[in-house]
Amino acid sequence: MSEIRSVVLGSGGYLPSRVLTNAELSQIVDTNDEWIVQRTGIRERHIAADGELTSDLAVKAATAALADAGLAAGDIDLIVMATATPDFTFPAAAVTVQEKLGMQNGAAFDVQAVCSGFIYALTSADAMIKAGQAKRALVVGAETFSRILDWTDRTTCVLFGDGAGAVVLGAEAAKEGTKDRGVIAARLRSDGRYRDKLYVDGGPSTGQAVGHLRMEGREVYRHAVTMITDVIEDVFAAAGVTAADIDWFVPHQANVRIIDASAKKLGIPLEKVVRTVDRHGNTSAASIPLALSVAVGDGRIRKGDLLLLEAMGGGFTWGAVLVRW
Ligand code: ACO
Repeated sequence: MSEIRSVVLGSGGYLPSRVLTNAELSQIVDTNDEWIVQRTGIRERHIAADGELTSDLAVKAATAALADAGLAAGDIDLIVMATATPDFTFPAAAVTVQEKLGMQNGAAFDVQAVCSGFIYALTSADAMIKAGQAKRALVVGAETFSRILDWTDRTTCVLFGDGAGAVVLGAEAAKEGTKDRGVIAARLRSDGRYRDKLYVDGGPSTGQAVGHLRMEGREVYRHAVTMITDVIEDVFAAAGVTAADIDWFVPHQANVRIIDASAKKLGIPLEKVVRTVDRHGNTSAASIPLALSVAVGDGRIRKGDLLLLEAMGGGFTWGAVLVRW
């Protein structure tokens, strides 16, 4: 039996229309554009409208990805949706997306790995396709972090934004190893000892309220580059490639300093790094597929390019995926 490869058939993104600039934020909390840009690289972020739900953002991104793939919702037999801000505690936001897309077959479920969510969702969908459980999967990252921010806490509320991104994966027979298009290798990690460094102080089984995001920013920063580059070295070894083989590095968009330091440590030139954090802020699980949709849309990422995707977030969770576009 020939090996199966999950090939990217299309991608898309969606950002809510409302843009919140650093200048506007300085009217809300004691901050300023210079501090935010210098520490994070963020200039503005998008905020979902009242009543605009995570599933609404996800459906828009998924619809764009399906159109890019030339497919209809009925062609999809799996939705894996990464989100830490679902519409409801349950059911999974993925089943709402399934219903809103008009898709009645297959399976849909959420993955909860916060900022690493898209990497976890992509790895899960790839594994299910390789196991023969699905033929065409929608992998979505969608978040409305604006709803879990403490808008009086300047140390966190300036960092995040809302948005969604999606890719469509299809099963194809593998032929030429790393030269084949599709997901080539993936590695996931987590370490729950760090769970109080970045968390939400509510939930159904604790305070019965949604809660707000809490973070020890310095602690996150301290671990980020080492954890990210370690797991990337693992995924390189698994695939037998090096940093020199990478056409585009598409990291989770949390902070430009973390992105640049990771690229530098790996020896990837900045011209090969996709950075959208200046315009999107940190959109958690949505950040990688949003960055993909931007760089595919402007013609940087082309069919056959070797992409390195990476994320780290609450848990801590982290991971990396190599994909030939
Ligand atoms: N505006 C102005 N001043 C601020 C702000 C703000 N928004 N926030 C904090 N400050 C102040 C602090 O109060 C402190 O003042 P003090 O010295 O008088 O006490 C000073 O700025 C320095 O604060 P630090 O927290 O030490 O600032 P630091 O240089 O560490 O930068 C930051 C903070 C940007 C959060 C940094 O730690 C960081 O990037 N951490 C990673 C966090 C992250 O990216 N999280 C995203 C989720 S995880 C992930 O996706 C990887």
